[in-house]
Amino acid sequence: MKIGKGEDLIKEAAEALKNGDIAAIPTETVYGLAANALSETAVEKIFQAKGRPQNNPLIVHISEIEQMELYARPDSRAFLLAEKFWPGPLTMIMQKRDIIPDKVTAGLDSVAIRMPSDAIARKIISLAGVPLAAPSANLSGKPSPTKAEHVRNDYLDKTDKNGTPLLRWIIDGGECTCGVESTVVSLLDQIPVLLRPGFITLKQLQQYLPDICIAPGVVEKINTDKPLSPGLVHRHYAADADTEGVDGESLFSAIYINREKNRYHKPAVMCFDEEKMLFDPSLRVISYGSFQKPEILAKNLFDKLRELDQEKHDKIFIRIPSPDGVGLAVYNRLLRSCEFHITRCFPFEIGLTGQSGAGKGTLAKALENYGFFHIDGDLLVEAAYEDVTETLAEQFGSEILRNGKVIRKKLSEIAFSSREKTELLNTIVHEAIMNRALTIAAEKAKKQIPCLFDGAALFEAKAEKYCRTVVTVVAPEEIRMERIRKRDNLTEEKIFRRFACQKEESFYSQKADITVINDGKTELHELCKNILKYREEQKNGSSL
Ligand code: TXA
Ligand code: MG
Repeated sequence: MKIGKGEDLIKEAAEALKNGDIAAIPTETVYGLAANALSETAVEKIFQAKGRPQNNPLIVHISEIEQMELYARPDSRAFLLAEKFWPGPLTMIMQKRDIIPDKVTAGLDSVAIRMPSDAIARKIISLAGVPLAAPSANLSGKPSPTKAEHVRNDYLDKTDKNGTPLLRWIIDGGECTCGVESTVVSLLDQIPVLLRPGFITLKQLQQYLPDICIAPGVVEKINTDKPLSPGLVHRHYAADADTEGVDGESLFSAIYINREKNRYHKPAVMCFDEEKMLFDPSLRVISYGSFQKPEILAKNLFDKLRELDQEKHDKIFIRIPSPDGVGLAVYNRLLRSCEFHITRCFPFEIGLTGQSGAGKGTLAKALENYGFFHIDGDLLVEAAYEDVTETLAEQFGSEILRNGKVIRKKLSEIAFSSREKTELLNTIVHEAIMNRALTIAAEKAKKQIPCLFDGAALFEAKAEKYCRTVVTVVAPEEIRMERIRKRDNLTEEKIFRRFACQKEESFYSQKADITVINDGKTELHELCKNILKYREEQKNGSSL
């Protein structure tokens, strides 16, 4: 096996490719295992060497935009995308021309074409004088290679039955800049379809393809014989260890992982920079970048996964980034690395909200019987004000303080004088309430006690992201009035005034996962059961 980046080796590999051999080449995304795309026998060698399923088609790599028309039938959208994103990490699926052998496309009448931006890749294609079919240069199922040594590790001792090495050339282009495979877009139908997210993001594509949609299977598990792209159903990017994705707030994910790790002999976690300190020292902790920089996560993803794989762990936990921008590509690869085994950690198993008098409190009490610890947002308000006394004085003036304490009446007078000030006050106080609630929930999580958060302002406090299941409780107006009259001893007029300040019922229902009617007729335990059933379903779903 020859590895290097010298001119002579590049020429030698290009010559070998021209003559029907295979060679590993760098690209900006991942290393590719290349062969002459016009030769069935050459392409067959790729399938053999990788152990790739025959029904998974290959991407044809070209070095000039004009070559696209030699192998495919591009439409105006293809020309536009080529102009905007090529050379670069974008692959387009188009109608194929007959010159492309069936072996390359796995019998489909479409072909995937890409023009890489990596200079060495393009040089090799043009020296070889033929388009190159190239899947990622990993053994099938393994994480894609982003360094030459990754390819070497996969193929070093691999030979055919005659003892000839399966791979004889690896061109070393250094570390790939993207780290995840190209974005794949199908242009076969009127509506363009994103088949594989990558470094070119959905948002970038939407600029030119406003009606693009995401193929089923990109962010969820699908069971079908006919996926839009065969790559959507194959097991992929996996380490040998049992791998589990962990999604959610850092602290709560770490509490989960620190507990779960005890079931394994040699566990490891691949986490974000910001979280390294949260894990138990008995865990092998490796970070793949900041969760604020999905480009870095993408670049390191397979490299770090391979590093852990070599250390022979029996369990790898992987923290899942948010699926925004390039994060969608990382998310998509990790779903497959973990074979869709994703655990989502939430501070609160249930969030309860709704209008005044809808019966949140009684429902929360009923749910306590099912083992939930009830955190009542209302009861945290006083303490929350104390937590943010300084901030409030800075924002609204020291006249809101007496003896170091906030005078709520004075604060209200100032804050309710304008909309901006009211919003500012709400933001500060809601955040303080949530911090209190999260601290309680973290203590409970350590003891594996599930929490329920109940707060009228759950949505205003943006707390839905902390709740696995958000429940809106509704009740007819007469019933709500009756409850408030009994509970708070208010006159009808005051109750109406309170109602007038509230958001409408639909505001709560539209944002919730589930709405329950607490009209006093349905048994509370029936309502609880419905909520718990829904929560169970959410827990077991693997989609976004
Ligand atoms: O970044 C990349 O695209 C890398 C480098 C080497 O260029 N290549 C790569 O190839 O990732 P591969 O074979 O690992 O992934 C090709 C993907 C697969 O998911 C395959 O199913 C899909 O493209 N694909 C290829 N031809 C297709 C077609 N005609 N219709 C639908 N999907 C196709
Ligand atoms: Mg691949």
